[in-house]
Amino acid sequence: SLQVPCVQELAKQALSRVPERYVRPELDVVHVASITSSSSSSSSFPSSSSQVPIIDMTKLLSPEFHASELHMLDYACKHWGFFQLVNHGVDSSLVENVKRDVEDFFNLPIEEKKGFGQKEGDIEGYGQLFVVSKEQKLDWADMFYCITLPPEARKPHLDNLDAYCKELRKLAIKIIQLMGEALNMEAKEITELFEEGHQSVRMNYYPPCPEPDKVIGLNPHSDVSALTILLQINEMEGLQIKNNGNWIPVTPLPNAFVINLGDTLQILSNGIYQSIEHRAIVNSKKERMSMATFLAPKMDGTIGPSPKLVTPERPALYKRVAVSDFYNGFFSRELKGKSNIDLMR
Ligand code: SIN
Ligand code: FE2
Repeated sequence: SLQVPCVQELAKQALSRVPERYVRPELDVVHVASITSSSSSSSSFPSSSSQVPIIDMTKLLSPEFHASELHMLDYACKHWGFFQLVNHGVDSSLVENVKRDVEDFFNLPIEEKKGFGQKEGDIEGYGQLFVVSKEQKLDWADMFYCITLPPEARKPHLDNLDAYCKELRKLAIKIIQLMGEALNMEAKEITELFEEGHQSVRMNYYPPCPEPDKVIGLNPHSDVSALTILLQINEMEGLQIKNNGNWIPVTPLPNAFVINLGDTLQILSNGIYQSIEHRAIVNSKKERMSMATFLAPKMDGTIGPSPKLVTPERPALYKRVAVSDFYNGFFSRELKGKSNIDLMR
């Protein structure tokens, strides 16, 4: 990624107008979907709601409610690609400590943060990703990206992050196993892909913006990961997901994770589950912080549609490719829509 200005510092200059490189008229940011009842589904699910579904982990793990909650999870993955997970079982004091670490990091003086700055040719560190040309428009945000698994790929990082990432790895694998169960996949296939999976985190800092309708905090995109678990660090909203052509805001619930499946799972499920485009918008009042934890397969394998999900009626929609090629391709281009997975057909 090319070097870009620190937006947090830019925002401190009390500009009345944002610099031209951040102006994104094509994104129509002001046009935010209002609450509509647009769903055409005739199932018994509450499909007219325009909030992402809520899934309860304790129900998924209870013999009594497992089947019905698994059905809800399957529905959420097919029709939303997103859900909020409540009763997720991750210790709340650990979550609070991680939130404080992230806030403390972004509140460090710029000189100290630069000590964590991206080195040339490296995707990790403090800075920005997906910037491949000097003409390219920029996001109104700073980020800090680091690889947390496998252990040999890890560099020094924030204090509580280690314990948090271990918990989130377990949680993510459990959820992918449940998705595999709903899809009738072989449990072994999931274990082989994810048991030694790759994990990374991305901390996002969206400063307040004098012209919030002209910029975007994070360009519309789908994730390359298998599963993304988003932690909302402070109370500010900003995430929106595309649903039936509308941008729907996700209002995070307290103590919940916002979870979405990425392109890797769309491929693995042979398109039965969809990775959904999402974006982050910004506001003029207060900064917003979030942290996404991504679970990916191990990098030295291949990814393609699960053999169980390829049938004469449903031929393979995607080629089988090396995981590392798929991920390197994602990080070498601009972050834009579903451009990466579209190359896999
Ligand atoms: C966010 O909600 O801040 C970003 C979500 C993402 O990582 O795409
Ligand atoms: Fe994302």
